[in-house]
Amino acid sequence: MASNIANVSATNTPTETDPSCEEPVNNNNQSENDSESSALDDLLADSKIYYNNAKQYWSNVAPTVDGMLGGFGSISFIDIRGSEQFLKHLYKQKPAPGRNRALDCGAGIGRISKNLLLPMFDHVDLVEQDEQFCQTARTELADYGSKLGTVFNEGLQNFIPEQGRYDVIWAQWVLSHLTDEDMVQFFNRCGEALARGGMIVIKENFTTGNVVDVDRTDSSVTRPLLQMKQLLKQANMRVVKEQRQTSFPKELYPVYMLALRPTIKK
Ligand SMILES: C[S@@+](CC[C@H](N)C(=O)[O-])C[C@H]1O[C@@H](n2cnc3c(N)ncnc32)[C@H](O)[C@@H]1O
Repeated sequence: MASNIANVSATNTPTETDPSCEEPVNNNNQSENDSESSALDDLLADSKIYYNNAKQYWSNVAPTVDGMLGGFGSISFIDIRGSEQFLKHLYKQKPAPGRNRALDCGAGIGRISKNLLLPMFDHVDLVEQDEQFCQTARTELADYGSKLGTVFNEGLQNFIPEQGRYDVIWAQWVLSHLTDEDMVQFFNRCGEALARGGMIVIKENFTTGNVVDVDRTDSSVTRPLLQMKQLLKQANMRVVKEQRQTSFPKELYPVYMLALRPTIKK
């Protein structure tokens, strides 16, 4: 990705001619940094166009697990197992989150809701910008009956979750689609939407260097982990647990899970 795993391979696949590219690019070269940052400025110049491009991109993607994971559907099982373990550890924190209601952000066709959240929570809401994915999620998750809450068809940049509603808010492989400013505001709103003891979990690709990787194909940016932490600080979020997902194919960006709580205790 940026948020789409497929684009990781496009930007970071090790090539036969460059064996040094074993890991995702760690680019400290100044001129490349400059051109990346102007590409970024360029891409983000008009956020309406930025979001519309992403919308357009996803409207052409098949509503399947493989589509959600850019052709890497086979990693879904490992991904979910890693998330499950991470989430279980969070219940050792005090206060632990409740198990009443979770929110799946950028939910796609509901892969995470189905395999991770619905088995662990009494109710799960989803928010997803693509209408077709929302419809597929409703169909795929229909067997869960009233455990399946509302599927909101909305972009995260506009979505206002209800105050105090969620024990866990899960955002995976979607934050690359938000501008820095919208992401900070989104986290602020999520902080308000947490129930007592609630947590936000983000699981995203990160670059290994200090450069933001720009992807014009799906209108997304892959950020350095440090930059994400600075944005979280701006949003008054603190990281309570951090873990790298193991056992993913080498050509993918490093993927980290971060559990967050608002700095001002609820
Ligand atoms: C790589 S897929 C991941 C889907 C899901 N999180 C998963 O891991 O299976 C990215 C999803 O984010 C959605 N998305 C992209 N931009 C978004 C936005 N601004 N707000 C909400 N969802 C968005 C896409 O439509 C797509 O369903």
